[in-house]
Amino acid sequence: MSSDYNHIFNQHWTIYQKILQHDYMGHQAVFGLLEASLLANFANQKLDLLDIGCGDAQTLAAFLQTSSLQSYTGIDLSKEALQLVPKNVGTLNCAVTLMNDDFVTAIEQLTQERSGQFDVIFSGFALHHVEDKIKASLFAKIKHLLKPQGRFYLIDVYQQEGESRASYLDRYLAPTFTHWHALDEHEIELLNTHVRSSDYPSTRTKLESMASDAGFTNCECLLADPSHSNILLSMGTY
Ligand SMILES: C[S@@+](CC[C@H](N)C(=O)[O-])C[C@H]1O[C@@H](n2cnc3c(N)ncnc32)[C@H](O)[C@@H]1O
Repeated sequence: MSSDYNHIFNQHWTIYQKILQHDYMGHQAVFGLLEASLLANFANQKLDLLDIGCGDAQTLAAFLQTSSLQSYTGIDLSKEALQLVPKNVGTLNCAVTLMNDDFVTAIEQLTQERSGQFDVIFSGFALHHVEDKIKASLFAKIKHLLKPQGRFYLIDVYQQEGESRASYLDRYLAPTFTHWHALDEHEIELLNTHVRSSDYPSTRTKLESMASDAGFTNCECLLADPSHSNILLSMGTY
């Protein structure tokens, strides 16, 4: 699985770079809001931070470099992505653990070893790779991994209420043909194939009910942007 996945990562890495560079998925706004909320909620704290599906950590790099961290733990299926983390974040003055594993397996392992030990758990554009049932069970485990005052921040794509997966995919992918001009034909085809085979976004209502079922009593939606299909949820128990 690992070497296949690395091959996929290599093919897709250039595409993701272009997407970020041209802000096609709306990263700038949603990560700006995430960082503002992290600063507001966790100023002057040394954070234990878990990043689920961290990739090469470039989207969180500015925050990681300027924050006071006790530890940073990143999980990703792609070894090649994890190898780029040090290059992107530099030397973090904290304990760094990079887990090259499926996040379902890694989170299960962490619940055995580091329950109640994280101030912040973050996942950016990764959990939509699993279906609702698995996502719901991950929410419950994430809740257990948090300290009592900790928060889980989720950035992901999301589906509109009542929209089928097929309609979502057609709607989401339409601009890749008409507006994502930095991608060539082959890259658009790869991207479309990847999204159609791997994306299982949830609706906002479904995500909020997963949060509530997992025991999060305070779930705030900091952004729901229908044009980019991006959502940012922040949840805790206070
Ligand atoms: C679109 S990238 C997002 C990277 C980064 N979090 C961000 O916000 O830019 C999705 C990442 O999730 C990882 N990923 C997807 N499914 C995974 C799984 N089941 N277990 C671990 N990582 C996974 C991919 O390897 C990829 O690095």
